[in-house]
Amino acid sequence: MGKAIDPATVSQTVVVQGLGFVGAAMAVAVANAVDARGLPSFDVIGVDLNNATGNKRVNSINSGVFPFETVDASIIKSTEDAVKRGNLRATTDNGVIGAADVVLVSVNLDITSVDDTDPSVNFAPFKSAIHTLGENIKKGVLVIVETTVPPGTCVNVVKPILDEHLTERGIDPDSVLVAHSYERVMPGAEYLDSIINFWRVYSGITQTAADGCEAFLSKIINVKDYPLTRLQTTFASETAKVLENSYRAVNIAFMEEWGRFAEEVGFDLFEVIDAIRKRPTHSNMRQPGFGVGGYCLTKDPLFAKLAAKDMFHLNGHDFPFSSQAIKINRDMPLVTLSKLRKYFGGSVGKKKILLMGISYRQDVGDTRYSPSEKFTAQALREGAVVSLHDPFVKYWDEMQMAVSGNLPDPGSFDAIVFAVPHHDYSNIDFKHWLSTCGSCLIFDANNVLTSNQRSTLEDMGYTLLSIGRG
Ligand SMILES: NC(=O)c1ccc[n+]([C@@H]2O[C@H](COP(=O)([O-])OP(=O)(O)OC[C@H]3O[C@@H](n4cnc5c(N)ncnc54)[C@H](O)[C@@H]3O)[C@@H](O)[C@H]2O)c1
Repeated sequence: MGKAIDPATVSQTVVVQGLGFVGAAMAVAVANAVDARGLPSFDVIGVDLNNATGNKRVNSINSGVFPFETVDASIIKSTEDAVKRGNLRATTDNGVIGAADVVLVSVNLDITSVDDTDPSVNFAPFKSAIHTLGENIKKGVLVIVETTVPPGTCVNVVKPILDEHLTERGIDPDSVLVAHSYERVMPGAEYLDSIINFWRVYSGITQTAADGCEAFLSKIINVKDYPLTRLQTTFASETAKVLENSYRAVNIAFMEEWGRFAEEVGFDLFEVIDAIRKRPTHSNMRQPGFGVGGYCLTKDPLFAKLAAKDMFHLNGHDFPFSSQAIKINRDMPLVTLSKLRKYFGGSVGKKKILLMGISYRQDVGDTRYSPSEKFTAQALREGAVVSLHDPFVKYWDEMQMAVSGNLPDPGSFDAIVFAVPHHDYSNIDFKHWLSTCGSCLIFDANNVLTSNQRSTLEDMGYTLLSIGRG
């Protein structure tokens, strides 16, 4: 752990509760902030649970190592620098929460299971985190909820729990400010930048809380180039996050049926999409692919529906588009599998498949709810022999399978499936790598290969199948 810096040089202590993909990155971003004199603005303490995962993350930060595999050199360096400087450390001891002037809540809030026909929000661990805050925070603290929550959570869940503890402890509940500002962090090449140089939405339960949140965020985010957006209520900003992710999930799901159409008719849907994207109103059009994974898009679109039912007891707000998008996106990897089945005459049994990419998105090592999981689990059930490659994952915890980071000898595979557009894959020299491969099928399931790579493969006589291309 780095030596403690002189408290006189920092104005505030910030505790980040939850050191996951979001909290760990936010802790580094806050520790990076400097005042007009160029001195660190905050003393940052990360807190996580005293379990195997929590301790691993805490120990990693304390040794100056960002706890997640990343290609972002700036987050790696900033973690090391902040720990050396002494204004970033981590612990599993909740006692440190008592020292906080600002608490950032970055814990997880899950849905029971997206495979359930009637999923519900698993509030217990989140509520437990808020109880811990209520037991430890001091008078006057600013609590900013960054966790993605169902609309209504700050007012109906967070505030009552805090009030109960504060009243019990003889602290005026109104002295504690509760704000909401959701994360748009993008683990990947721009991990740290996606916090500091990016637009932010925020709100407060009271005007004073919103003002406090604005003042705090303004010290961390480059608000000159990326001005903050204040919404009038926490209901509005909680909804903004959920709607933002639902919008994206629905757009991805919408492209699915067009991909199937292009494949059947025999044209290139990516060419069509590129043409449409030239129109500014359609520039962010999505494209067909292997599937949708990760922690957010697989659950957030259900939060509005669940809030309407369980928090506001409203009828007739079922958000059918969002529910349908979750289902379509979840089943997408099975389309690739069904195409392989068809290619191999009805079964993938005993077929040797090399799956290129297991993380949920390009250039990250996060495998939570990865589409590759659904694909692999089903392919194994059907008797296929699946080998795995990913530059960012050494061992796949969810599937308990080893993953290679080196390109294997391709000679023994019946099919090589490109599932994740990791940057490394666009640099594969197929002439060299496939020189020993007889006649395996190449399947581009996620627009991974460049047009040059596609031409090379065709020139070499390989059968190339693709999602979105006929
Ligand atoms: N991962 C992303 O890219 C991303 C982007 C934007 C928003 N979000 C949202 O941010 C939130 C956090 O996501 P994440 O990916 O970091 O999740 P995560 O599961 O990686 O991290 C959550 C961390 O909180 C810890 N935790 C849980 N209860 C705790 C407690 N009582 N005290 C201390 N620590 C506790 C867990 O041990 C874990 O380390 C979620 O709501 C998510 O939807 C995530």
